[in-house]
Amino acid sequence: MNSPAPRPVSPGTDFLAPVFALYPLEVVSGQGVWLTNSRGERVLDLYGGHAVAALGYGHPGFTQALTRQAQSCNFQSNAVAMQVRTRAAERLVRFSRLPVTSVFFVNSGAEANENALKLGFKMTGRSQVCAVVGGFHGRTAGAGAVTWGAQQKWYSYPRTPFDVSFIPRGNIDAISGFVTKETASVIVEPVQGLAGAVDLSKEFLQALRKRCDEVGALLIFDEVQCGMGRVGYPFAANMYEVMPDMITTAKALGNGYPCAALLTNAKVSGAFKLDLLGTTFGGGPMACAVIEAVIDAMETENLLERVRRVGAYIRQTCLVGPVTAHQGAGFLTGLRTTRPAKEVQAELLECGILAGTATDPHILRLLPPFILEEEQVDMLRDTLADLPA
Ligand SMILES: Cc1ncc(COP(=O)(O)O)c(C=O)c1O
Repeated sequence: MNSPAPRPVSPGTDFLAPVFALYPLEVVSGQGVWLTNSRGERVLDLYGGHAVAALGYGHPGFTQALTRQAQSCNFQSNAVAMQVRTRAAERLVRFSRLPVTSVFFVNSGAEANENALKLGFKMTGRSQVCAVVGGFHGRTAGAGAVTWGAQQKWYSYPRTPFDVSFIPRGNIDAISGFVTKETASVIVEPVQGLAGAVDLSKEFLQALRKRCDEVGALLIFDEVQCGMGRVGYPFAANMYEVMPDMITTAKALGNGYPCAALLTNAKVSGAFKLDLLGTTFGGGPMACAVIEAVIDAMETENLLERVRRVGAYIRQTCLVGPVTAHQGAGFLTGLRTTRPAKEVQAELLECGILAGTATDPHILRLLPPFILEEEQVDMLRDTLADLPA
């Protein structure tokens, strides 16, 4: 008997859980801000793999740090001291230029947020959390519970593990009605990423800080997307001059090597006890070597200044074709489009430029590597200008 013909396999797709909408693009390599697709064509990457590839592709410092650490010692857990971990924490604290006194390394943005929320409950003995309309904080039970719209879309757990209320975006007067003596913590993305680079404003963040102090709640800045230089400052906390009790960060922190961190002020650090938090992989030496290399590159190559300068250039020059306005900060930029942003995104990709979209259907989201230059922005401008308005 003949055996059945083998099922045709299209490499890289058939066995992967079909839960992601795929861009019509297969990447085979990357160099600088450029990707090469499977047809051998170059694509300008203005999306950076969801805001991750801060140093772009093939950065020598990143590659050397990974190689060197893999050769010297690829793993030991947090139960064993390693200088590379101590150095990475110190580098991160110094890079932040904020009154941060402890770093807890984890593996993903959602995990950092879970730990921050947990500390809020533990320290206050309260059981309620406030988040902000439009915020995205990750897909685990706690992080998904504080994510706007998750329960209607994908949450899937039978219930959230704690009570959550969502403060209307930018509504300072509403804050005191939401944040009360029952509130353990308030979690907020200072510049909302997935929502479409929505800048929540210094005044709104200051008002959250003030209210948290009045009622004894902890303030958490989720800087998983907007932190680590993306807004042109170490963190949005620096840009707005508002210091939360905890900052969570990931994405650009590892330039593609999975890692995340929870940074805490003295008040929160003072509550740490043995066994309160834990992780196997978090703070692994490979991740820590990468974190050092990423910070090194940001500092020695003056990349934050470049993010501010080239970010401003995007805003000045790219209001052409279907783009009518901009929002966000630095390299977390939203361009408002007259037509659905998905249409504009598809047209840009046809012309060799990769951009992102957002939950706001009229926002094209740009999250480029920090090494982007003005001449590459000119390519974006010229391409946009040729698209139907
Ligand atoms: C602001 C923000 N917080 C949290 C997360 C979740 O991070 P991760 O996917 O690493 O769990 C994301 C991911 O996009 C994010 O943008």
